[in-house]
Amino acid sequence: MKAAVISMGSISSKWIVKAMKKYFGQVDSINIRNLEVNIESKKYQILYGGEPLEDYDCIYCRGSFRYSDLLRSITHALCEKVYMPISGPAFTIGHDKLLTHLKLGDAKIPMPTTYLASSTDAAKKLLKKMSYPIIMKFPQGTHGKGVMFADSYDSASSMMDALAALNQPFLLQEYVETGGVDTRAIVVGNKVVAAMQRRAVQGEKRANIHAGGKGEPVELDAHTKKIAVEAAISVGMDIGAIDILDGPRGPMIIEVNLSPGLQGITKATKIDVAEHIAKFLYKKTKEFKEAGKSGEAESVMKELGVAKAEVEGKQLISSLDFRGNRILLPEIVTNITKFNEKDEYSIKAEKGKLEIEKFSTPEEQKKKK
Ligand SMILES: Nc1ncnc2c1ncn2[C@@H]1O[C@H](COP(=O)(O)OP(=O)(O)O)[C@@H](O)[C@H]1O
Ligand SMILES: [Mg+2]
Repeated sequence: MKAAVISMGSISSKWIVKAMKKYFGQVDSINIRNLEVNIESKKYQILYGGEPLEDYDCIYCRGSFRYSDLLRSITHALCEKVYMPISGPAFTIGHDKLLTHLKLGDAKIPMPTTYLASSTDAAKKLLKKMSYPIIMKFPQGTHGKGVMFADSYDSASSMMDALAALNQPFLLQEYVETGGVDTRAIVVGNKVVAAMQRRAVQGEKRANIHAGGKGEPVELDAHTKKIAVEAAISVGMDIGAIDILDGPRGPMIIEVNLSPGLQGITKATKIDVAEHIAKFLYKKTKEFKEAGKSGEAESVMKELGVAKAEVEGKQLISSLDFRGNRILLPEIVTNITKFNEKDEYSIKAEKGKLEIEKFSTPEEQKKKK
């Protein structure tokens, strides 16, 4: 099988490429800066260095928030034919803390209360009601540099004026007291494969600033692992890092990272995270390809180990996974149905029964006949 890693060529990405070479027949390293997407009606073309991108079985897209639109477009164009661990929308959601918090909220995942106001005046009224200290942060990730700490109304208000003068959007957030410690968990599939605690340096509240090399391995409890995995699922990524604050009200998710650096966590935990990622990509790609071939659904379901599933022909007997009041269907269902975000579906629901069918106009129906 043929795979590619699209990235800016960081050391972490190189480690992943190297680990993947043990599993895939070919692994190409693709420089994100040389990619472009041409979008036409019902047709997408991805060019690499001006030439059409080769066909792959698996593509893992990595890169900073500057490339989120490009990576979303590439994933949108290719995800039906290629296994890609990060879904298209995840590139937009995961790189924006507001959108992330909306998804976490939907999935009932604990997080610090986050506020958004329509104007500086409205935000100042909010500031009057908040208990201090508070956090103000830019929606887009900046490795801690867009996170500000205000210990009183006066300091928050003056920071807010400065942000307004710069037209810089921001979120207000409840401060979670952790003694300057945060937790980073690496999620691969439905598992936390490594976790470390980072401690803020003296006089600093943000644990990820100047934290280089100060991470310590930590064994997370089952609840924290569960919310980390749920956070990854809620934004639509199979691989990523989740930042967690373990405060007085229990663990809370503050951020997801689609393209985490692996050096710090590998050094701190001595866990070969790149190897975990490579092995997972290979397994998922194999499943993705097999699920694509009809008639082989049974073996794939068995391999997937779908929760207590018994397979009869194409009938799948399984318990249902709920996220709050929403039903999350097993991934195999997506692979078999080829349902995707682009199309529209007709959903018929009645007590005890659910039918979902790709929506087609009367004209399209006639054509089928
Ligand atoms: N609500 C909060 N309460 C306390 N500390 C916070 C809060 N939000 C962020 N921090 C601190 O700031 C650091 C950076 O925040 P984060 O939201 O992960 O942004 P980014 O890593 O993108 O800069 C965290 O690792 C944590 O130490
Ligand atoms: Mg962070």
